[in-house]
Amino acid sequence: MEGVPLADIAARFGTPTYVYSRATLTSAFRAYQHALSGHRASICYAVKANSNLGILNLFARLGAGFDIVSGGELTRVLAAGGQPNQVLFSGVGKSAVEIRQAIEVGIRCFNVESAAELERIDSVAGEVGLKAPIAFRVNPDVDPKTHPYIATGLKSSKFGVAFGEAAGLYRRAATMRNVEIRGIACHIGSQLLDPAPIAEAAEKVLSLVDTLAVDGIHFDHVDLGGGLGIRYRDEIPPTVTDYLSPLLALFQNRREALCFEPGRSLVGNSGLLLTRVEYLKHGEDRNFVVVDAAMNDLARPALYDAYHQIVPVTQQPSEPRRYDVVGPVCESGDFLAHDRDLAVTAGDHLAILSAGAYGMAMSSNYNTRPRAAEVLVDGDAVHLVRQRETLPDLYRGEGILPA
Ligand code: LLP
Repeated sequence: MEGVPLADIAARFGTPTYVYSRATLTSAFRAYQHALSGHRASICYAVKANSNLGILNLFARLGAGFDIVSGGELTRVLAAGGQPNQVLFSGVGKSAVEIRQAIEVGIRCFNVESAAELERIDSVAGEVGLKAPIAFRVNPDVDPKTHPYIATGLKSSKFGVAFGEAAGLYRRAATMRNVEIRGIACHIGSQLLDPAPIAEAAEKVLSLVDTLAVDGIHFDHVDLGGGLGIRYRDEIPPTVTDYLSPLLALFQNRREALCFEPGRSLVGNSGLLLTRVEYLKHGEDRNFVVVDAAMNDLARPALYDAYHQIVPVTQQPSEPRRYDVVGPVCESGDFLAHDRDLAVTAGDHLAILSAGAYGMAMSSNYNTRPRAAEVLVDGDAVHLVRQRETLPDLYRGEGILPA
């Protein structure tokens, strides 16, 4: 990773450890900046993909805004040096406490996902005595052609407001005392490999913008969400420029600025999960590499049957054999990979690639496993950006019955 052997990182910080590259994070962000230069557009990193403070701080330094889905993520963004007025707040279940927090710190915009949420925002803003900036997240009903668990813009989805109801909701919002209409948003799904569906969604959204202009409702920005896919195995995702150009063309002569909320494409291939081989287990039907990382560290294989490339950190001279790579968790679903040809022995280290997005962020303590350490590599330097959890960390706050 950059100038540092992964074996040295394993020796110094132990395993499992998430390892991120500053240079790769930076160049992923620069690709968006480059594609958007000369346009009025902001890049609001989707914090959920990887919410480590070190990473948030790096993006804040590069000039990113942030897309958040909880008060917790807002608190992280502020702790990492992000600007509240560059924060967009998405999500279907914002609590009154979260809404109040966001209004008080002065976020850029709420992406409102239901009529009931609009009422709640108006009433909380009234209590606080400030106007809440809002956009509706509309559901353009386009098929993003991705995994069903991460498609979010279909009619059947819990996200956003129905396209046909959006105009009525904007008219209602325009009559409210405590909200201020700023924009319109959509997000159709994640790991998109085809740029056509997002362009289709953008056209639909723009037609709605034009309909509402007739009523005197105008927008400062149109937020087209995140979703650009990355290469895990043999996918060929569009480049950032190819993905964005059809969208920029649509907005060429328009007054609204653009926002994007990329997550995976900024962090996914900037990080890997470093793990150690505990045992080799050769069976009648299958062979297993048992490693010290598990589904609690990286849930994507178990949850989505996702593919992550796995490479040995040091090349072994031995012949490869076919293995399932599994963790110590007591679940048959605890696998990191199936049917990989690997030449490994116990004690070796493996790198599980493309794990920078939705890896650590989705980790848990299942089986009372402390969560992994995270390090950020910068040239020849390695910075610990999250300590490995200790066991007392895990049961802090728990209690027992009185004697
Ligand atoms: N904006 C909104 C409103 C979102 O819901 C999401 C992701 C994003 C932006 C960022 O999308 P991205 O650029 O990362 O595709 N855990 C799944 C992915 C869930 C995505 C949820 N929403 C996975 O591991 O594949």
